[in-house]
Amino acid sequence: MKNLAFLFLLVPTLIFSNTFWGKTGHRVTGHIAQNHLTGKAKRALKDLLDGHSLAYVSTFADEIKADRKYSGYFAWHFVNYPLGTRYEDSEKSKYGDIITGIEECIRMVKNKENSKKTRSFHLKMLVHLIGDLHQPMHASRAEDKGGNSIQVQWFGEGSNLHRVWDKNLIESYGMTYTELATELDHLSRKERKKIQEGTIYDWVEESHEICADIYDSAKTGDKLGYQYGYQYNEVLFQQLQRGGFRLAKVLNDLFD
Ligand code: ADE
Ligand code: ZN
Ligand code: ZN
Repeated sequence: MKNLAFLFLLVPTLIFSNTFWGKTGHRVTGHIAQNHLTGKAKRALKDLLDGHSLAYVSTFADEIKADRKYSGYFAWHFVNYPLGTRYEDSEKSKYGDIITGIEECIRMVKNKENSKKTRSFHLKMLVHLIGDLHQPMHASRAEDKGGNSIQVQWFGEGSNLHRVWDKNLIESYGMTYTELATELDHLSRKERKKIQEGTIYDWVEESHEICADIYDSAKTGDKLGYQYGYQYNEVLFQQLQRGGFRLAKVLNDLFD
């Protein structure tokens, strides 16, 4: 009986521990974006999100993973293609990927003939997916499921390379999402504009290139901790910052 109880605990842990740019990462991105919206975008969002913040809705797409009704959206959270190649040249998944997901969300929110429920659903998905796009291991490699099957230790506890980037690194700061967002939201207008340049096709390649470097940084069984956090602090913060400013840009354009 003891063994069985253990299984009931273990199975959901294994299922839900996968594939989340953890809540903190998504909320940081949402919170930064919130500060850089146009008046028009703010008004549209207020209506479609019933007054909820971008940080609050940013984790919706992960929450619905617990409901099988939404299993068709799983493939939207990431894209895998060989390192050293480009998304546009890659073989596409028949289930869709983060790029087709983002494009579909933009189309669905833009179309005012859709119901508020449909537009709101796709808006919440969009907020999440722009965040995932900036988690380098979500623009990754298929063989190891974006690092999910590369087991490593994080400060002596079992983890994997994907999870290190989804949550271990971020959580190691011991800061709330608002504290992190405040810390990262200090760029000049010119610097923000520079970050907001390009398209989701450019941004996915950026993540994909960072991901190649991450694969070189650790191998199965490695013990990661302070040194790894220090090495990647700048990359991690840069990706969160980019995700925030670019989410604002995508939403401002969408509601222009
Ligand atoms: N499952 C397969 N590939 C994945 C990836 N890159 N990120 C998250 N989950 C995945
Ligand atoms: Zn993830
Ligand atoms: Zn996700």
